[in-house]
Amino acid sequence: MDRPNKDNLLDQVETKINQGQFSDALSTLYDGLNRVRTHSSAEEWKQFVIQYREHAVSHFFLQEPLTRRAFEKPLGYAGDPVMIDFVYDHDRAVPPNARSTEISEILNCELNRIGHASYAIRERKHILSRKINQTAERVVNPYILSVACGYLREALDSSAVKNKKIGKFVAIDHDKESLSVVAEQIKDFGETIHASLMDLIFNTVPLSTFDFIYTAGLYDYLPDSLAKKMTSKLFELLNPGGRLLIANYLPDTPTLGYLEAVMDWWLIYRDKDQMQELIELIPQESIHDVDMFVEKNQVMIFMEIEKVGGG
Ligand SMILES: C[S@@+](CC[C@H](N)C(=O)[O-])C[C@H]1O[C@@H](n2cnc3c(N)ncnc32)[C@H](O)[C@@H]1O
Repeated sequence: MDRPNKDNLLDQVETKINQGQFSDALSTLYDGLNRVRTHSSAEEWKQFVIQYREHAVSHFFLQEPLTRRAFEKPLGYAGDPVMIDFVYDHDRAVPPNARSTEISEILNCELNRIGHASYAIRERKHILSRKINQTAERVVNPYILSVACGYLREALDSSAVKNKKIGKFVAIDHDKESLSVVAEQIKDFGETIHASLMDLIFNTVPLSTFDFIYTAGLYDYLPDSLAKKMTSKLFELLNPGGRLLIANYLPDTPTLGYLEAVMDWWLIYRDKDQMQELIELIPQESIHDVDMFVEKNQVMIFMEIEKVGGG
């Protein structure tokens, strides 16, 4: 990868904007930020992000609805369920006042075309739906738990859910608004629980045990010590032969320059070894298998831990 000219990048982008080449401006910025980040130390990158935020072009890209939502963080963090809905289905989810200009539409189209994270978020939903279906093939009327469920959109795509092949679907989140959306989706066989991770770790919520537990879009915000406790706690809640699936963003993917500099969306990234460390607090003899895989866009990693004792 070519060493970027940091000083030129933002001026080049500004020239393209002034010439009305908005898609090209976004893709030039996206690629350029990736190159700058790749060739910088952590400190140099932080300095460059400050320089970016002070440059006139930074305001321009906030017209893109997803970018704006991440940057403004109306719920206190980037990547909230409303924003995830923008990624899943822009036309349905983005309110007209957030995409009223032609420029915001152009920028959104381009970001959806080139943004690795958008592809990975959609792929993550497919993977979760498939895992729900596979659980229903493995166990009759399984009990499933989604932790930090957000809007639980993956359940809508699952044939096992549609065909009522689930024994019980429990969805936990600390956001009441998300839970009210979810309650409607799983009303026939589901239960929503308003609880935080701390409630789970300190056992303040009575829970049954489950055949499949998963969490996506959560560990990217958890430091290692908390992530390890959480992993061990969730593993305890598995039935014999049950599986725990954890998703996390990988480090050093091409999307991170844009996420951090433009969206102000900073996550905790983990590679395969760092994921493996998260199972340290689980007694080794109770683990049957650990499967690690990266989704097809190479942006997110998944770790699935199987408990001993399946039939
Ligand atoms: C990025 S969203 C992911 C939602 C969903 N799992 C998905 O894949 O689309 C993160 C979710 O985690 C929830 N969350 C964050 N911190 C939490 C905590 N400490 N306890 C419970 N829920 C939490 C948020 O309310 C939000 O719904």
